[in-house]
Formats: sequence, structure tokens, C-alpha cells
Amino acid sequence: MMLTVENTNAWLLSFADKLIENKEYLTDLDTAIGDGDHGNNMARGAKMIKDKLNSQDFSSVQDIFKAVAMALLSSVGGAAGPLYGSAFMGMAKQVATDDNSVDAVIKAGLESVQKRGKAVPGEKTMVDVWVPAVKALEEGKLSKDAIWEAVKSTKDMKATKGRASYLGDRSIGHIDPGATSSGYFFETLLDSNILD
Ligand SMILES: Nc1ncnc2c1ncn2[C@@H]1O[C@H](COP(=O)(O)OP(=O)(O)O)[C@@H](O)[C@H]1O
Ligand SMILES: [Mg+2]
Repeated sequence: MMLTVENTNAWLLSFADKLIENKEYLTDLDTAIGDGDHGNNMARGAKMIKDKLNSQDFSSVQDIFKAVAMALLSSVGGAAGPLYGSAFMGMAKQVATDDNSVDAVIKAGLESVQKRGKAVPGEKTMVDVWVPAVKALEEGKLSKDAIWEAVKSTKDMKATKGRASYLGDRSIGHIDPGATSSGYFFETLLDSNILD
């Protein structure tokens, strides 16, 4: 349960690849309940992440998280850019403390997202994936099933935060795009050897 420069780099590169691979799916999800830009937004951020991580040698995990935060803040735009940017800044701060376990670091990321966006569980946002994922991490039982269950749970929710909230009841019946991109974040964490 330790983050190293090597495994963090590998994890976030595969997160970026997943976002690029699934750009069209994220676009489709955001077309149903938003403005259809989440796929392009995140793929643009992902390309920036790859450029930064591949062009530098990092000497600390904190520097990696900071570089990813800056990449996302400067390139993603929309609601998701500042929210993911905050998550990575929160994780960057936490990883430099004594409590730098993966679960503490991710929990700090969630706290930053909630500080920035004020969303709580049940509002059909990325928070609906981060909250159960943090809990599962703390209990040592994060699984792909748990992650994608959480993503799917947003389908029946009515959005009360973000652009999808303008649709009111018409937001019900669609999976949330930001919850889905967060699903890739946790799925690639599981695929890395970080939790082993
Ligand atoms: N206040 C919020 N807190 C957490 N996540 C949010 C919030 N507002 C929006 N989101 C997330 O952002 C996603 C939309 O991102 P994106 O389409 O890139 O931005 P925009 O809504 O500006 O077009 C939503 O699917 C949702 O998960
Ligand atoms: Mg959008």
C-alpha cells in the first residue's frame, strides 16, 4: 500500500490511456445529460498528462500529482477540470505528510473535490464513485465490481449538482459522465500493483 514514483507514474499513464480510449463513450454520456464535452475535455487533459509524465523525471510522488493537477487545470476546462485538478492537488499535499498511505491520499483527494464542488453522495456526480471507493479502500476491499456498481448507481439518481441538474427529473436514467471517468481512475489504480 505504498505509492512510489514508478507505480504512481505507471498508474496515471494508464488512467490517461483509458480516458483517451473511452473518449467517445464519455462524450455520449455527457451528450445525454450535459453538453457533450466530457470526453474531449478529459482526453485533452489525458494527453497533457502523458506529455508531462513522459517528458520529465520526477523525484517525488508529490511532484507527479502536482504536475497532473497543473495539466488538468490548464487543459480540461468545464466543471471537471477544476474538480480533478483539486483532487490531484489534495493528493499532492497529503502524500508529503506522515499519513501517506494510498487510502489517506485518495481520501484527501475526495475532500478537495467536495470542498471545491460541494457535492455529497446521491447528487449524481463523481463523488458517488469517490465516496464508496474511499470506504472500500479503507476496508481493504476495493474491487472492479464495487467501482462499476458505484458508477452504475448514478443512473437512477436525479442530478442536483452541475450542468445535468438543469434537466431535473430528465437526468434520471443516464449514467453520470464524471462518475464514469472516475471509474477509470479507480480501475487503473486496481490494475496497477499499488494495492498489492
Ligand atoms: N459540484 C460538483 N461536484 C462534483 N462533481 C461534479 C460537480 N459538478 C459537476 N460534476 C461532475 O462533472 C461532470 C461534468 O464534467 P464536464 O462535462 O467536463 O463539465 P461541464 O459540466 O462543465 O460540461 C459531471 O458528470 C459530474 O460528475
Ligand atoms: Mg460537459
